[in-house]
Amino acid sequence: MGKVCVFDHPLIQHKLSILRDKDTSVKEFRELVSEISMLMCYEATRDLPLEDIEVETPVGLAKCKRIAGKKLAVVPILRAGLGLVDGMVSMMPNVKVGHIGLFRDPETLEPVKYYYKMPPDITERDIIVVDPMLATGGSASAAINFLKEDGVQHIKLMCVIGAPEGVSRIMKDHPDVDIYVAAIDEKLNEHGYIVPGLGDAGDRIFGTK
Ligand code: PRP
Ligand code: URA
Repeated sequence: MGKVCVFDHPLIQHKLSILRDKDTSVKEFRELVSEISMLMCYEATRDLPLEDIEVETPVGLAKCKRIAGKKLAVVPILRAGLGLVDGMVSMMPNVKVGHIGLFRDPETLEPVKYYYKMPPDITERDIIVVDPMLATGGSASAAINFLKEDGVQHIKLMCVIGAPEGVSRIMKDHPDVDIYVAAIDEKLNEHGYIVPGLGDAGDRIFGTK
């Protein structure tokens, strides 16, 4: 069974409180999402393998570590997932980025796919799927299915806020996937929005409402 990691770091919790505020501006919202993804990236990459190296300092030889060439890719679920990409890329400048375009049908809440583009060597990479919101879990579960159909074997899911329903759905559909979230909220409302959540993440990142 995959693990569920809820970030209790004070910096993340502080930024998340501002993110939730309905009066937070688009500019600030974007910056906060990016900063939170940067901080979450630390934990989501904690198990990257290291190798020993020696580095010559001005004073002597230091026994050091470096990341052992692990191939990674970050895969945002469009649109809102795009908000989390910059923070990840600033921590891992050479990381490849794939894109999955999905939107939730407002009536059925089922995800509708409109875009899919991965780096050519995607099957050799470990993937971190990113999306600010894990509500019913339908979008994330479908995105993970597409990646698995493509032959990807190691997938993590990183979201800012999860609903209990979404977390359970991923654990059921994809027990091999570790889930990283900054908070697990109370519930979904009748429109499939996370309560209290932060509203529509895509609209708040892109200023479309
Ligand atoms: C939001 C969000 C997730 C999805 C979560 O995207 O970014 O992708 O809803 O809901 P679910 O867990 O119930 O599937 P949305 O469909 O609003 O599209 P957008 O990112 O283009 O705004
Ligand atoms: N998508 C969002 O952007 N917000 C929610 O609360 C649920 C789905």
